Amino acid sequence: MSILLTGGTGFIGSHTAVELLQSNQDVVIVDDLSNSAASVVDRIEAITGKRPVFYQADVADKAAMKKVFSENSIDAVIHFAGFKAVGESVRIPIAYYRNNLDTTLTLLETMKEFGCHRFIFSSSATVYGTSDKVPFTEDAKELGCTNPYGWTKFMIEQILKDAALADPELSVVLLRYFNPIGAHESGMIGEKPNGIPNNLMPYITQVAAGIRDHLSVFGDDYPTHDGTGVRDYIHVVDLAKGHVAAYNYSTSHTGCEIFNLGTGIGYSVLDIVHAFEEANHLKIPYEIAPRRAGDIATCYASTEKASRVLGWKAEKSLEDMCRDSWNWQCGKWAK
Ligand code: UD1
Repeated sequence: MSILLTGGTGFIGSHTAVELLQSNQDVVIVDDLSNSAASVVDRIEAITGKRPVFYQADVADKAAMKKVFSENSIDAVIHFAGFKAVGESVRIPIAYYRNNLDTTLTLLETMKEFGCHRFIFSSSATVYGTSDKVPFTEDAKELGCTNPYGWTKFMIEQILKDAALADPELSVVLLRYFNPIGAHESGMIGEKPNGIPNNLMPYITQVAAGIRDHLSVFGDDYPTHDGTGVRDYIHVVDLAKGHVAAYNYSTSHTGCEIFNLGTGIGYSVLDIVHAFEEANHLKIPYEIAPRRAGDIATCYASTEKASRVLGWKAEKSLEDMCRDSWNWQCGKWAK
C-alpha cells in the first residue's frame, strides 16, 4: 500500500516524503512541477535511500489521476498541491479558486472510484482569520479569512467536512499549519520561493546571502512585547513528522478531525532576526516599514489536541530553524 502525496516535491511535501519513507511507508508523488523541480525526487532518494514513485501531472487532470490510482495501490492521500501566494491570490483570485478547489474535488472523486478512504489536508492557521483569542484552539469560531488564498483553505475544509459527513467510511484529517520554516539538516531540500519572497524567513536568508539589501519589518506598533508581529514558527521537519502521526491516526479513525501543527510559542519579527543573527554569526540589516495589509498582531497555536490525540509535539528549537534555513540557503539547491 502506498501514500499519495500531491505536491510532494514542494517544500512541505518533500520533507513529509522523507519522513514517511524513513518510517517504512511507500510513497507516490504527483506534482506538476509548477513551483518545484524534478530533481527533488533524486534528492529525496539521496536522503532516504528509497525512491518515491513520481508522476508529473496536474492533480485536477482526472485522467492522469485515474492512471495514478490504477497503477498503484493508494490507501491514503496527503494533499499538499495548491497555489499558496497570498498577494498573488488577491490579484488572480479566480485562478486560486479554480486550482485549489478543482484539485481537491478531482481527488475526492477519484478516491471514491478506487475505494480510497483516507484524506489528510494541508490547511493553514489562516482560517482563524482576524481572531485575537490566542492561543488558537481547533474549535475556535471561524471569523472568515483576509484573502482568497485563505478562503480556498477555508472552503476546502468545508468540502471535506461535508464529504466526511456523507460517507461513513471516510477519514478526513485537517492539519492547520502555523509558520513553517527551516529545512532538512542535509541541506538538500528546503523552501525555494519564486521571485521576491513574501514570507519572513526566506526574505531574511536572502538578505543574509546578499540577494536583498535589507529586511523591511512590517510595523513596530503592534500590541506585542517589542511592537512587531508575533507568530508560531515551526521547523518543517517537525511539521513533516506531524503528518506521519496524522497518517497513523487515520488508520483507526473515521469522520473529520482538525489539528493545529505549531509549537505553541510566539516569536516576534525582531526575535527571529536576532535569533538568526546569533545562530549564524552574521548581521541582518533591517528597517521599520508600515504594517502589511491583512496582518494580525499575534498568532500562535494551542498544541494540546495534537499532543493528546496524535501523540505529536514539535521538538526543534528556534536555533535549529535558523541554522537549517541558512544551511539550505548556502547550499547549491537553493540557487
Ligand atoms: C502568511 C500568510 C498566511 C500563509 C502563510 C504561509 C499573510 C497575511 N498571511 O502568514 O496566510 O498561510 O504566510 O507561510 O500573508 N514580515 C516582515 N517582513 C517581511 C515578511 C514578513 O516584517 O518581509 C512579518 C509579517 O508582518 C509577520 C511575520 O513577519 O508579522 C510573518 O510573516 P509571513 O512569514 O509572511 O507569515 P504570515 O503573515 O504569518
